[in-house]
Amino acid sequence: MTPVPRDLNAESLLAFWAEAGVDAMLLDEPFDRIEAGKFVPPKPPERIVAAPPPAQGAVRAGPDVAAAMAEAKRLAAAAPDLEALKAAIEAFDGCPLKFEGAARQSVFYRGATDAPLMVIGEGPGQEEDIQGAPFVGRAGQLLDKMFAAAGLTDRVFITNSVFWRPPGNRNPTVGEQMVCAPFLERAIELLAPRMLLLVGGPSAKSMLKREEGILSLRGRWFEWKSSDGAIELPAMPTLHPAFLLRQPGAKKKAWSDLLTLTERLNRPERP
Ligand code: URA
Repeated sequence: MTPVPRDLNAESLLAFWAEAGVDAMLLDEPFDRIEAGKFVPPKPPERIVAAPPPAQGAVRAGPDVAAAMAEAKRLAAAAPDLEALKAAIEAFDGCPLKFEGAARQSVFYRGATDAPLMVIGEGPGQEEDIQGAPFVGRAGQLLDKMFAAAGLTDRVFITNSVFWRPPGNRNPTVGEQMVCAPFLERAIELLAPRMLLLVGGPSAKSMLKREEGILSLRGRWFEWKSSDGAIELPAMPTLHPAFLLRQPGAKKKAWSDLLTLTERLNRPERP
């Protein structure tokens, strides 16, 4: 029998879709294609019950991003520590993702609360939504291995640019990131890390307000500034581990970024 040749492009595309959460290409019920034109797509299966509706009078970030940001700022400023900030995020109804993508819960952070390095990803995926912690799926496991190899395991605080899962794992929108930004900024203020690692394009672009793609931003040092200019921190963008799982050839670049960052982190702090 002639062996069937492997189609590496097709395999890579399938891996990409699997990573994005698409794991089936068949409909649940057969339908008659002869009747084409009369086809009405079947309803998607019921998903896990969504988060409860917003409390009466709560501000939701629909079109009014500014109002939701103001509310987020007010709540974040009132949080005296990271646990209070976590509770404020949980109670916040201003990010539409809470009612669109998240099935279970908000996802704030994991890691050391005295870490010198804050790692900021894009947003939670399905596994993070289930477990309530960031980067706990396959991409997170790869990230953990990289941190372990660099000697950073207990020196990282890991969070995201948004705190609820975007539907279908799409990238968070600028509006969604803006609404979550006051909480993220308050987390930076409370943690007081020495530097930031921005994981993936959406995180790097929103934190640095840059338009270039991640392949151009990665491995370079930038200065992140808080909105009132009171905090300035060195920040390095790098490739997202989900991308590295799809493109293992790019791991070399991400590893080089991490070594550059670790070398700076290990330098003694100036008094
Ligand atoms: N990807 C991210 O950017 N963040 C997570 O928490 C998980 C996957």
